[in-house]
Amino acid sequence: MKANGFKNLEEADLSPHRYMNILYGSNAQGKTNFIESVWVCTGCRSFRGTKERDYVGFKKPLSEIKMEFCDSERQQSIVIRHDKAHKFCRNMALNGVNIKSLSQLFGSFEAVVFTPEDLELSKGSPDSRRNYMNTGISQLKKSYHIDVVNYNRAIMHRNVVIKNINLGLAKKSDLDIWDTQLARFGAAIVSARCRYIREIAKKAELLYDDISSGKEKLELYYLSSVFRDVREYGEMDFCNPLAISEIRRRYEIALNRWQDSDIKSGMTVNGVHRDEIITKIDGVMSREFGSQGQSRSIALVMKLAQAQLIEETIGEAPVVLLDDVLSELDPQRQEFVLRRLDGFQVFVTCCDRASAMRFGEGKIFYVENGKITEEVNQPL
Ligand SMILES: Nc1ncnc2c1ncn2[C@@H]1O[C@H](COP(=O)(O)OP(=O)(O)OP(=O)(O)O)[C@@H](O)[C@H]1O
Ligand SMILES: [Mg+2]
Repeated sequence: MKANGFKNLEEADLSPHRYMNILYGSNAQGKTNFIESVWVCTGCRSFRGTKERDYVGFKKPLSEIKMEFCDSERQQSIVIRHDKAHKFCRNMALNGVNIKSLSQLFGSFEAVVFTPEDLELSKGSPDSRRNYMNTGISQLKKSYHIDVVNYNRAIMHRNVVIKNINLGLAKKSDLDIWDTQLARFGAAIVSARCRYIREIAKKAELLYDDISSGKEKLELYYLSSVFRDVREYGEMDFCNPLAISEIRRRYEIALNRWQDSDIKSGMTVNGVHRDEIITKIDGVMSREFGSQGQSRSIALVMKLAQAQLIEETIGEAPVVLLDDVLSELDPQRQEFVLRRLDGFQVFVTCCDRASAMRFGEGKIFYVENGKITEEVNQPL
Protein backbone atom coordinates (compact mmCIF):
# COMPACT_ATOMS: atom_id res chain seq x y z
CA MET A 1 0.00 0.00 0.00
CA LYS A 2 1.29 3.42 -0.81
CA ALA A 3 0.92 4.88 2.62
CA ASN A 4 3.13 3.80 5.46
CA GLY A 5 1.36 0.78 6.90
CA PHE A 6 2.24 1.58 10.47
CA LYS A 7 0.88 5.07 10.72
CA ASN A 8 -2.43 6.81 10.43
CA LEU A 9 -3.19 8.00 6.94
CA GLU A 10 -2.86 11.66 7.95
CA GLU A 11 0.60 11.09 9.40
CA ALA A 12 1.87 8.89 6.59
CA ASP A 13 4.88 10.20 4.76
CA LEU A 14 4.13 9.71 1.09
CA SER A 15 7.39 10.92 -0.43
CA PRO A 16 8.78 7.97 -2.42
CA HIS A 17 12.22 7.70 -0.79
CA ARG A 18 10.59 7.36 2.62
CA TYR A 19 8.95 4.07 1.67
CA MET A 20 12.12 2.18 2.52
CA ASN A 21 12.16 0.56 5.97
CA ILE A 22 15.36 -1.27 6.82
CA LEU A 23 15.42 -3.80 9.66
CA TYR A 24 18.82 -5.00 10.79
CA GLY A 25 19.98 -7.25 13.59
CA SER A 26 21.98 -10.38 14.32
CA ASN A 27 20.78 -13.87 13.43
CA ALA A 28 17.72 -15.31 15.16
CA GLN A 29 16.48 -11.98 16.52
CA GLY A 30 13.08 -11.98 14.81
CA LYS A 31 13.53 -10.20 11.46
CA THR A 32 11.99 -12.99 9.40
CA ASN A 33 9.30 -13.46 12.05
CA PHE A 34 8.27 -9.85 11.46
CA ILE A 35 8.29 -10.19 7.66
CA GLU A 36 6.29 -13.43 8.00
CA SER A 37 3.67 -11.71 10.17
CA VAL A 38 3.14 -8.97 7.60
CA TRP A 39 2.97 -11.53 4.80
CA VAL A 40 0.36 -13.68 6.57
CA CYS A 41 -1.96 -10.65 6.50
CA THR A 42 -2.25 -11.07 2.72
CA GLY A 43 -4.23 -14.28 3.37
CA CYS A 44 -1.45 -16.46 1.90
CA ARG A 45 0.33 -19.20 3.81
CA SER A 46 3.68 -18.53 5.39
CA PHE A 47 6.40 -18.32 2.73
CA ARG A 48 8.69 -20.40 4.92
CA GLY A 49 6.22 -23.24 5.26
CA THR A 50 5.56 -22.62 8.96
CA LYS A 51 2.46 -24.51 10.09
CA GLU A 52 -0.18 -22.34 11.69
CA ARG A 53 0.26 -24.04 15.06
CA ASP A 54 3.90 -22.89 15.03
CA TYR A 55 2.91 -19.22 14.83
CA VAL A 56 2.47 -19.52 18.59
CA GLY A 57 5.81 -19.20 20.40
CA PHE A 58 7.26 -22.19 22.20
CA LYS A 59 5.83 -22.32 25.74
CA LYS A 60 3.51 -19.41 24.91
CA PRO A 61 -0.31 -19.70 25.10
CA LEU A 62 -1.19 -17.56 22.10
CA SER A 63 0.03 -15.50 19.19
CA GLU A 64 -1.47 -12.32 17.86
CA ILE A 65 -0.81 -10.35 14.70
CA LYS A 66 -2.39 -6.92 14.58
CA MET A 67 -1.88 -4.73 11.57
CA GLU A 68 -3.23 -1.36 10.55
CA PHE A 69 -2.71 -0.32 7.00
CA CYS A 70 -4.07 2.19 4.58
CA ASP A 71 -4.42 2.61 0.87
CA SER A 72 -5.17 5.85 -0.89
CA GLU A 73 -8.76 5.75 0.36
CA ARG A 74 -9.08 4.35 3.84
CA GLN A 75 -7.47 2.87 6.89
CA GLN A 76 -8.08 -0.81 7.62
CA SER A 77 -7.15 -3.34 10.25
CA ILE A 78 -6.43 -7.06 10.44
CA VAL A 79 -6.21 -9.20 13.56
CA ILE A 80 -5.11 -12.85 13.47
CA ARG A 81 -5.03 -14.67 16.80
CA HIS A 82 -4.06 -18.29 17.53
CA ASP A 83 -4.88 -19.80 20.88
CA LYS A 84 -2.96 -22.93 21.83
CA ALA A 85 -5.05 -23.61 24.92
CA HIS A 86 -8.24 -24.04 22.89
CA LYS A 87 -7.13 -26.66 20.35
CA PHE A 88 -5.34 -23.99 18.35
CA CYS A 89 -8.50 -22.06 17.88
CA ARG A 90 -8.10 -19.19 15.46
CA ASN A 91 -9.83 -15.84 15.58
CA MET A 92 -9.54 -13.43 12.73
CA ALA A 93 -11.06 -10.09 11.96
CA LEU A 94 -10.92 -7.69 9.06
CA ASN A 95 -11.90 -4.14 10.00
CA GLY A 96 -13.44 -5.44 13.21
CA VAL A 97 -15.64 -8.01 11.47
CA ASN A 98 -14.87 -11.66 12.26
CA ILE A 99 -13.85 -13.82 9.32
CA LYS A 100 -13.71 -17.61 9.11
CA SER A 101 -10.82 -18.33 6.80
CA LEU A 102 -7.50 -16.68 6.01
CA SER A 103 -8.39 -16.68 2.32
CA GLN A 104 -11.09 -14.10 3.08
CA LEU A 105 -8.21 -11.68 3.46
CA PHE A 106 -7.29 -11.99 -0.21
CA GLY A 107 -7.63 -8.65 -1.92
CA SER A 108 -7.53 -6.57 1.28
CA PHE A 109 -3.84 -6.25 1.91
CA GLU A 110 -1.45 -6.91 -0.98
CA ALA A 111 2.24 -7.72 -0.66
CA VAL A 112 5.03 -9.41 -2.56
CA VAL A 113 7.68 -11.27 -0.59
CA PHE A 114 11.17 -12.08 -1.77
CA THR A 115 13.45 -14.43 0.16
CA PRO A 116 16.82 -16.03 -0.67
CA GLU A 117 14.92 -19.24 -1.61
CA ASP A 118 13.10 -17.26 -4.30
CA LEU A 119 16.42 -16.67 -6.04
CA GLU A 120 16.03 -20.33 -7.04
CA LEU A 121 12.71 -19.61 -8.75
CA SER A 122 14.05 -20.22 -12.22
CA LYS A 123 16.43 -23.12 -11.43
CA GLY A 124 14.52 -24.79 -8.58
CA SER A 125 11.69 -27.31 -8.58
CA PRO A 126 8.51 -26.75 -10.65
CA ASP A 127 6.69 -26.66 -7.31
CA SER A 128 8.19 -23.26 -6.55
CA ARG A 129 6.97 -21.88 -9.87
CA ARG A 130 3.46 -23.29 -9.37
CA ASN A 131 3.49 -21.75 -5.93
CA TYR A 132 4.56 -18.44 -7.52
CA MET A 133 1.51 -18.55 -9.80
CA ASN A 134 -0.92 -19.74 -7.14
CA THR A 135 0.11 -17.04 -4.69
CA GLY A 136 0.11 -14.28 -7.31
CA ILE A 137 -3.26 -15.18 -8.81
CA SER A 138 -4.99 -15.81 -5.46
CA GLN A 139 -4.20 -12.26 -4.39
CA LEU A 140 -5.93 -10.90 -7.49
CA LYS A 141 -8.75 -13.41 -8.02
CA LYS A 142 -10.48 -14.79 -4.95
CA SER A 143 -12.25 -17.65 -6.74
CA TYR A 144 -8.90 -19.04 -7.93
CA HIS A 145 -7.97 -20.27 -4.47
CA ILE A 146 -11.27 -22.14 -4.22
CA ASP A 147 -10.63 -23.78 -7.61
CA VAL A 148 -7.21 -24.92 -6.38
CA VAL A 149 -8.64 -26.33 -3.13
CA ASN A 150 -11.35 -28.19 -5.08
CA TYR A 151 -8.85 -29.44 -7.64
CA ASN A 152 -6.56 -30.81 -4.92
CA ARG A 153 -9.49 -32.55 -3.27
CA ALA A 154 -10.61 -34.09 -6.58
CA ILE A 155 -7.13 -35.33 -7.42
CA MET A 156 -6.82 -36.94 -4.02
CA HIS A 157 -10.08 -38.85 -4.66
CA ARG A 158 -9.03 -39.84 -8.19
CA ASN A 159 -5.73 -41.20 -6.89
CA VAL A 160 -7.56 -43.22 -4.22
CA VAL A 161 -9.80 -44.71 -6.94
CA ILE A 162 -6.69 -45.58 -9.00
CA LYS A 163 -5.19 -47.32 -5.97
CA ASN A 164 -8.45 -49.23 -5.40
CA ILE A 165 -8.60 -50.27 -9.07
CA ASN A 166 -5.10 -51.72 -8.70
CA LEU A 167 -6.27 -53.55 -5.56
CA GLY A 168 -9.30 -54.89 -7.40
CA LEU A 169 -11.66 -52.84 -5.23
CA ALA A 170 -12.91 -50.43 -7.92
CA LYS A 171 -13.48 -50.39 -11.67
CA LYS A 172 -12.10 -48.12 -14.37
CA SER A 173 -15.42 -46.37 -14.97
CA ASP A 174 -15.31 -45.13 -11.32
CA LEU A 175 -12.70 -42.65 -12.55
CA ASP A 176 -15.13 -40.86 -14.87
CA ILE A 177 -16.79 -38.79 -12.16
CA TRP A 178 -13.42 -37.53 -10.95
CA ASP A 179 -12.28 -36.78 -14.49
CA THR A 180 -15.29 -34.49 -14.81
CA GLN A 181 -14.45 -32.77 -11.51
CA LEU A 182 -10.77 -32.41 -12.34
CA ALA A 183 -11.57 -31.03 -15.79
CA ARG A 184 -13.96 -28.47 -14.27
CA PHE A 185 -11.45 -27.04 -11.79
CA GLY A 186 -8.39 -27.75 -13.92
CA ALA A 187 -9.81 -25.78 -16.86
CA ALA A 188 -10.50 -22.77 -14.63
CA ILE A 189 -6.93 -22.97 -13.27
CA VAL A 190 -5.30 -23.33 -16.71
CA SER A 191 -7.28 -20.39 -18.03
CA ALA A 192 -6.44 -18.14 -15.05
CA ARG A 193 -2.76 -19.09 -15.14
CA CYS A 194 -2.48 -18.50 -18.88
CA ARG A 195 -3.91 -15.02 -18.52
CA TYR A 196 -1.75 -14.27 -15.50
CA ILE A 197 1.49 -15.49 -17.06
CA ARG A 198 0.76 -13.61 -20.28
CA GLU A 199 0.68 -10.36 -18.28
CA ILE A 200 3.68 -11.34 -16.13
CA ALA A 201 5.65 -12.23 -19.28
CA LYS A 202 5.10 -8.81 -20.85
CA LYS A 203 6.45 -7.10 -17.74
CA ALA A 204 9.24 -9.58 -16.96
CA GLU A 205 10.56 -9.44 -20.52
CA LEU A 206 10.80 -5.64 -20.40
CA LEU A 207 12.43 -5.73 -16.96
CA TYR A 208 14.92 -8.32 -18.16
CA ASP A 209 15.82 -6.10 -21.08
CA ASP A 210 16.65 -3.42 -18.49
CA ILE A 211 18.65 -5.64 -16.11
CA SER A 212 20.70 -7.08 -18.98
CA SER A 213 21.14 -3.62 -20.56
CA GLY A 214 19.43 -4.88 -23.69
CA LYS A 215 22.02 -7.63 -24.23
CA GLU A 216 19.77 -10.64 -23.57
CA LYS A 217 16.18 -11.49 -24.35
CA LEU A 218 13.94 -13.30 -21.88
CA GLU A 219 11.00 -15.39 -23.01
CA LEU A 220 8.53 -16.66 -20.41
CA TYR A 221 5.43 -18.78 -20.94
CA TYR A 222 3.09 -21.27 -19.33
CA LEU A 223 3.47 -24.95 -20.14
CA SER A 224 0.37 -27.05 -19.56
CA SER A 225 0.94 -30.79 -19.09
CA VAL A 226 -2.52 -31.42 -20.50
CA PHE A 227 -2.25 -29.15 -23.50
CA ARG A 228 1.55 -29.35 -23.70
CA ASP A 229 2.71 -26.08 -25.16
CA VAL A 230 -0.07 -23.58 -24.65
CA ARG A 231 1.59 -21.18 -27.12
CA GLU A 232 1.55 -23.79 -29.84
CA TYR A 233 -1.93 -25.06 -29.11
CA GLY A 234 -2.79 -22.67 -31.86
CA GLU A 235 -6.49 -23.04 -32.52
CA MET A 236 -7.55 -22.34 -28.92
CA ASP A 237 -7.30 -19.08 -27.05
CA PHE A 238 -6.55 -20.17 -23.49
CA CYS A 239 -6.63 -16.59 -22.32
CA ASN A 240 -10.18 -16.07 -23.49
CA PRO A 241 -12.58 -16.67 -20.58
CA LEU A 242 -15.26 -17.59 -23.15
CA ALA A 243 -13.17 -20.58 -24.20
CA ILE A 244 -13.46 -22.14 -20.73
CA SER A 245 -16.12 -24.71 -21.65
CA GLU A 246 -14.02 -25.87 -24.60
CA ILE A 247 -10.88 -26.11 -22.42
CA ARG A 248 -12.91 -28.14 -19.93
CA ARG A 249 -14.25 -30.48 -22.60
CA ARG A 250 -10.79 -31.18 -24.00
CA TYR A 251 -9.31 -31.53 -20.51
CA GLU A 252 -11.83 -34.25 -19.71
CA ILE A 253 -11.19 -36.06 -23.00
CA ALA A 254 -7.45 -36.04 -22.25
CA LEU A 255 -7.99 -37.43 -18.72
CA ASN A 256 -10.27 -40.18 -20.07
CA ARG A 257 -7.61 -41.07 -22.64
CA TRP A 258 -4.92 -41.37 -19.92
CA GLN A 259 -6.97 -43.57 -17.59
CA ASP A 260 -5.08 -46.77 -18.53
CA SER A 261 -1.63 -45.23 -18.25
CA ASP A 262 -2.58 -43.49 -14.96
CA ILE A 263 -3.73 -46.83 -13.53
CA LYS A 264 -0.37 -48.32 -14.56
CA SER A 265 1.51 -45.42 -12.96
CA GLY A 266 -0.66 -45.62 -9.84
CA MET A 267 -1.53 -41.91 -9.95
CA THR A 268 -2.83 -39.01 -12.03
CA VAL A 269 0.23 -38.11 -14.07
CA ASN A 270 -0.90 -35.00 -15.93
CA GLY A 271 -2.85 -31.98 -14.83
CA VAL A 272 -2.38 -28.48 -13.45
CA HIS A 273 -0.51 -30.03 -10.50
CA ARG A 274 2.26 -30.81 -13.00
CA ASP A 275 2.24 -27.59 -15.03
CA GLU A 276 5.23 -25.33 -15.41
CA ILE A 277 6.53 -21.88 -16.24
CA ILE A 278 9.22 -22.07 -18.91
CA THR A 279 11.89 -19.39 -19.15
CA LYS A 280 14.39 -19.04 -21.97
CA ILE A 281 17.24 -16.61 -22.48
CA ASP A 282 17.94 -15.94 -26.13
CA GLY A 283 16.01 -19.08 -26.97
CA VAL A 284 17.91 -21.34 -24.55
CA MET A 285 16.12 -23.06 -21.64
CA SER A 286 17.36 -21.26 -18.54
CA ARG A 287 16.46 -24.00 -16.05
CA GLU A 288 18.97 -26.36 -17.64
CA PHE A 289 21.50 -24.01 -19.20
CA GLY A 290 21.16 -20.63 -17.46
CA SER A 291 24.12 -19.25 -15.53
CA GLN A 292 23.66 -18.44 -11.84
CA GLY A 293 23.59 -14.72 -12.65
CA GLN A 294 20.95 -15.18 -15.36
CA SER A 295 18.80 -17.30 -13.03
CA ARG A 296 18.95 -14.67 -10.32
CA SER A 297 18.01 -11.96 -12.79
CA ILE A 298 15.03 -14.04 -13.97
CA ALA A 299 13.88 -14.55 -10.38
CA LEU A 300 14.19 -10.82 -9.70
CA VAL A 301 12.22 -9.75 -12.74
CA MET A 302 9.51 -12.36 -12.06
CA LYS A 303 9.03 -10.96 -8.56
CA LEU A 304 9.14 -7.35 -9.71
CA ALA A 305 6.65 -8.16 -12.48
CA GLN A 306 4.31 -9.53 -9.80
CA ALA A 307 4.53 -6.28 -7.85
CA GLN A 308 3.92 -4.22 -11.00
CA LEU A 309 0.94 -6.36 -12.00
CA ILE A 310 -0.71 -5.96 -8.59
CA GLU A 311 -0.22 -2.21 -8.82
CA GLU A 312 -1.65 -2.09 -12.33
CA THR A 313 -4.62 -4.34 -11.50
CA ILE A 314 -5.79 -2.82 -8.22
CA GLY A 315 -4.36 0.66 -8.66
CA GLU A 316 -2.34 0.49 -5.43
CA ALA A 317 1.30 -0.47 -5.05
CA PRO A 318 1.72 -3.62 -2.92
CA VAL A 319 4.06 -3.66 0.06
CA VAL A 320 7.33 -5.33 -0.91
CA LEU A 321 9.06 -7.56 1.66
CA LEU A 322 12.71 -8.33 0.97
CA ASP A 323 13.98 -10.79 3.54
CA ASP A 324 17.76 -11.07 3.52
CA VAL A 325 17.76 -10.98 -0.22
CA LEU A 326 19.53 -7.76 -1.21
CA SER A 327 22.75 -8.77 0.52
CA GLU A 328 22.76 -11.90 -1.67
CA LEU A 329 22.93 -9.79 -4.82
CA ASP A 330 25.86 -8.08 -6.52
CA PRO A 331 25.89 -4.24 -6.47
CA GLN A 332 24.53 -3.94 -10.01
CA ARG A 333 21.48 -6.12 -9.24
CA GLN A 334 20.97 -4.38 -5.89
CA GLU A 335 20.88 -1.04 -7.68
CA PHE A 336 18.42 -2.43 -10.25
CA VAL A 337 16.02 -3.74 -7.59
CA LEU A 338 16.11 -0.55 -5.54
CA ARG A 339 15.60 1.63 -8.61
CA ARG A 340 12.66 -0.49 -9.76
CA LEU A 341 11.10 -0.40 -6.28
CA ASP A 342 11.06 3.38 -6.10
CA GLY A 343 7.51 4.32 -5.11
CA PHE A 344 6.73 1.03 -3.34
CA GLN A 345 6.69 0.70 0.42
CA VAL A 346 9.53 -1.71 1.11
CA PHE A 347 10.59 -3.63 4.22
CA VAL A 348 14.08 -5.00 3.86
CA THR A 349 16.04 -7.07 6.38
CA CYS A 350 19.77 -7.52 6.69
CA CYS A 351 22.22 -8.59 9.36
CA ASP A 352 24.37 -5.57 10.04
CA ARG A 353 24.21 -1.81 10.04
CA ALA A 354 26.88 -1.47 7.36
CA SER A 355 24.68 -3.39 4.88
CA ALA A 356 21.65 -1.39 5.99
CA MET A 357 23.47 1.81 5.11
CA ARG A 358 24.04 0.72 1.54
CA PHE A 359 20.31 0.63 0.81
CA GLY A 360 19.94 4.39 0.54
CA GLU A 361 17.43 6.63 2.25
CA GLY A 362 14.77 5.29 4.53
CA LYS A 363 13.86 4.48 8.08
CA ILE A 364 16.14 2.20 9.97
CA PHE A 365 15.12 -0.24 12.72
CA TYR A 366 17.25 -2.34 15.03
CA VAL A 367 15.89 -5.82 15.82
CA GLU A 368 16.99 -7.60 18.96
CA ASN A 369 15.34 -10.43 20.84
CA GLY A 370 12.03 -9.89 19.06
CA LYS A 371 11.93 -6.12 19.74
CA ILE A 372 11.99 -3.64 16.88
CA THR A 373 13.33 -0.18 17.71
CA GLU A 374 13.46 2.70 15.29
CA GLU A 375 16.78 4.49 15.17
CA VAL A 376 15.91 8.16 15.11
CA ASN A 377 18.25 11.04 14.39
CA GLN A 378 20.90 8.65 13.14
CA PRO A 379 21.34 9.41 9.47
CA LEU A 380 22.09 6.49 7.19
N1 LIG B 1 7.14 -20.86 17.19
C1 LIG B 1 8.25 -20.31 17.68
N2 LIG B 1 8.36 -20.05 18.99
C2 LIG B 1 9.44 -19.47 19.52
N3 LIG B 1 10.48 -19.14 18.81
C3 LIG B 1 10.45 -19.37 17.49
C4 LIG B 1 9.34 -19.96 16.85
N4 LIG B 1 9.60 -20.05 15.52
C5 LIG B 1 10.83 -19.54 15.36
N5 LIG B 1 11.34 -19.14 16.52
C6 LIG B 1 12.64 -18.54 16.81
O1 LIG B 1 12.56 -17.15 16.63
C7 LIG B 1 13.88 -16.68 16.46
C8 LIG B 1 13.91 -15.61 15.40
O2 LIG B 1 13.80 -16.22 14.13
P1 LIG B 1 13.91 -15.38 12.79
O3 LIG B 1 13.85 -16.40 11.67
O4 LIG B 1 12.90 -14.30 12.76
O5 LIG B 1 15.37 -14.78 12.90
P2 LIG B 1 16.09 -13.73 11.97
O6 LIG B 1 16.29 -12.47 12.76
O7 LIG B 1 15.39 -13.61 10.68
O8 LIG B 1 17.51 -14.43 11.78
P3 LIG B 1 18.42 -14.61 10.47
O9 LIG B 1 19.24 -13.37 10.35
O10 LIG B 1 19.27 -15.79 10.82
O11 LIG B 1 17.55 -14.89 9.31
C9 LIG B 1 14.75 -17.91 16.16
O12 LIG B 1 15.54 -18.21 17.29
C10 LIG B 1 13.75 -18.99 15.91
O13 LIG B 1 14.24 -20.26 16.28
MG1 LIG C 1 15.78 -14.30 8.76
